[in-house]
Amino acid sequence: MQTTHLPRIVVLISGKGSNLQSFIDAIQMRVIDAEIVAVISNNPGVLGLERAEKHGIPTQVVNHRDFPEREDFDAALAEVVESYRPNLILLAGFMRILTPDFVEKFKGRMMNIHPSLLPKYPGLHTHQRAIDAGDTVAGATVHFVTSELDGGPAIIQAQVPIEEGDDAETLGARVFEQEHMIYPMAVRWFCQGRLGLINDRACMFGRPLPPTGHPFSTVARER
Ligand code: GRF
Repeated sequence: MQTTHLPRIVVLISGKGSNLQSFIDAIQMRVIDAEIVAVISNNPGVLGLERAEKHGIPTQVVNHRDFPEREDFDAALAEVVESYRPNLILLAGFMRILTPDFVEKFKGRMMNIHPSLLPKYPGLHTHQRAIDAGDTVAGATVHFVTSELDGGPAIIQAQVPIEEGDDAETLGARVFEQEHMIYPMAVRWFCQGRLGLINDRACMFGRPLPPTGHPFSTVARER
């Protein structure tokens, strides 16, 4: 068997896996030097699993419905995750709240993306909540995972304008474009050894990032 020394990534999903696809693409383009060693879903039959299989990535389903308690599901999930000896675990549309035990086990090597400008709008329905509040900007945040829901130290954050007449769907589509840029970027930094969690702060080259993470500007990209 051939062995490589590339960072080993496990991706946890629940659904369509468009963020997973952005990692697959970035690895293929050598933007990220790493290997996705497994994609694990809590839901069977989802598009994200198909995407992984299409690229020859091992998949597994750990169905939360098969476990009486959250703790049992998390223990089973942790065992499967650990069996792949990951350097990095990526939550990518993984719609289960993880227990503190699980989070602690993978502290400093587990990231998530959340479709809001954290600390605003943790939880669900972020786009509708931003529109209802009359916000003029929305966005997405990649962060290290801690036991506080969507509350871990931010790594990178992208903003998009909320336009007149936006609904959750049109705004969500605009935010998605940014998600697919910033999440692979954070993964690249981590795999290069530039990014880490030090004293509960997200740090680049050992220096703390701003509380809302590295700002990512689409304006700069369009110039
Ligand atoms: C994304 O909006 C992500 O921010 C949120 O769940 C969604 C996952 O989408 N955490 P996908 O499965 O990656 O397409």
